Amino acid sequence: MFSSTEMLQASRGKIPAKLVLKNAVVLNVFTKEWLTQDVAVWDGRIIGVGRYEGREEIDLTGKYLVPGFFDAHVHIESSMLTPAAFAAEILPFGTTTILADPHELANVSGEKGIRWLLEEIKRLPLNGYVMLPSCVPATELDDSGARLEAEDLLPLREDTSVLGLGEFMNVSGVCAGEEKALAKLRAFQDRVIDGHAPGLVGKDLQAYLLAGVSTDHECSEPEEALEQLRSGMNLMIRRGSGAKNGETLISTLLDSRVSAERVCFCTDDKHVEDIRREGHISSNIREAIHLGMDPAEAYAMASFNAARMYGLSHLGAIGSGYQADLVVLDDLEEVSVDSVYWKGKLVSRKGERPAVGKRTVPGFLLDTVQLRPVHREQLRLSCPDGATHVAQVIPHQILTRHRVCQVPCTAGEFQPDRHFQKVAVVERHRGTGRVGIGVVEGFFLHGAIASTVAHDSHNLIAVGDNDQDILLGIQALEKAGGGYCLARDGKLLEVLPLPVCGLLTQEPTEQVQRALANMKKLCVEMGMPEELDPFQTLSFLSLPVLPEIRITDRGVFDSVEYRYL
Ligand SMILES: [Fe+2]
Repeated sequence: MFSSTEMLQASRGKIPAKLVLKNAVVLNVFTKEWLTQDVAVWDGRIIGVGRYEGREEIDLTGKYLVPGFFDAHVHIESSMLTPAAFAAEILPFGTTTILADPHELANVSGEKGIRWLLEEIKRLPLNGYVMLPSCVPATELDDSGARLEAEDLLPLREDTSVLGLGEFMNVSGVCAGEEKALAKLRAFQDRVIDGHAPGLVGKDLQAYLLAGVSTDHECSEPEEALEQLRSGMNLMIRRGSGAKNGETLISTLLDSRVSAERVCFCTDDKHVEDIRREGHISSNIREAIHLGMDPAEAYAMASFNAARMYGLSHLGAIGSGYQADLVVLDDLEEVSVDSVYWKGKLVSRKGERPAVGKRTVPGFLLDTVQLRPVHREQLRLSCPDGATHVAQVIPHQILTRHRVCQVPCTAGEFQPDRHFQKVAVVERHRGTGRVGIGVVEGFFLHGAIASTVAHDSHNLIAVGDNDQDILLGIQALEKAGGGYCLARDGKLLEVLPLPVCGLLTQEPTEQVQRALANMKKLCVEMGMPEELDPFQTLSFLSLPVLPEIRITDRGVFDSVEYRYL
């Protein structure tokens, strides 16, 4: 990066810097020390740390200064907001860099969806990078709205916002050396390739690393984490709306005293309501510190570690030559953010969200819900001997347990109740009329919950204890162009329309937040356990790459044996 003579002079203290943040307790991520210093800034870069004079000086006595936070793996789509609205939500919490994987947009709208994100992300007041979706569709056995092969990804590779290849979920394809998987790995062999490897240990882990994958954010068990770290995998500790791996993984790091240098944070999938309630990456840091992590280590994980993992050598530290992405804190352990600077500019103060103009969404991202009318007949599930495969959901996890249970039946047909509930997944991209039916345990609701956010193919999914409410939910979402809804006793209780790809809204964030909060309350009233995140749990019930059992538009899928049942 070029430094002018003037910048060099200011760096040497011969002339005043353009901006100096004075007297803060500054985190040095190189030595993990806290030192009271001034930070001099010139045209978006830090030009010196020490004692400086500035044309503009801001006194930060009594405050802390840390590098801007990274979300190393995020699907913006999970916030249900447009990229601009999402940026406005996370900046006040100190996140200045995101590595976004537009996997959901791509599964609905393919290359066009990715190109839209690439255009939008460059306009955001933060460092927006893109990891290209590697597995669209998630498996060959799934029906999404698009298909992306290596030759489709290659033209996108050269975009300046693209860093590498996003989470490679087809672990078995990688390890077995399947040609299509290898073609994608080959196309990105000189870039970072993110992994997605729940439970991966042993020789397959070795093969996955050999194939070029270098990160994993699905790791959730102590032994697995240690083996992955010892093998050279970079780990992300995730705190999303559904999956939270912090408690286990931070404790593992502390108990085993292994280095956290190759560990960073991500959210993966986090709803705006949760971001507003507890923060963004700031909540990962807070959790780590509360669990006993040294604050300097936790803040380095949120910044420097992630920057190094992705080769972003100009980001992630407060040192001369680094980009001036800075977070001013009132309290270190609570991660209470006073103000946020991006490229040396104040972008948020006292929690204020930066103004983001409303931008027009192209027509091809709207009206993506194409359904053939669904009839009650299609919701039948025959169980001749009364026993069937059941997906048991687990609170705070997106994994399910595969059980074979005796379920309530009449004349050989499954009758859902409050315990064993019906899942219907309707293909919604091409109007094929395909409907998959299964049984889930753990929602315990009276009525139905439905959504077009259903990873990764984003077909329409509904869970309920009766067909009438399930059908009502399906029809309501078709009318809304996608979204979330709740129905009970033949009445719609709430609909949150998400007309952009059936995933996002352009409505004000407050409206989304209100609708989500109300729906969560209603879900509890309908009988769902409070510890279950209704939207996340529902949205992952279709993802065939997650163990142990899933329901897709083609039926019940055993994701351990990798076959339809
Ligand atoms: Fe992800």
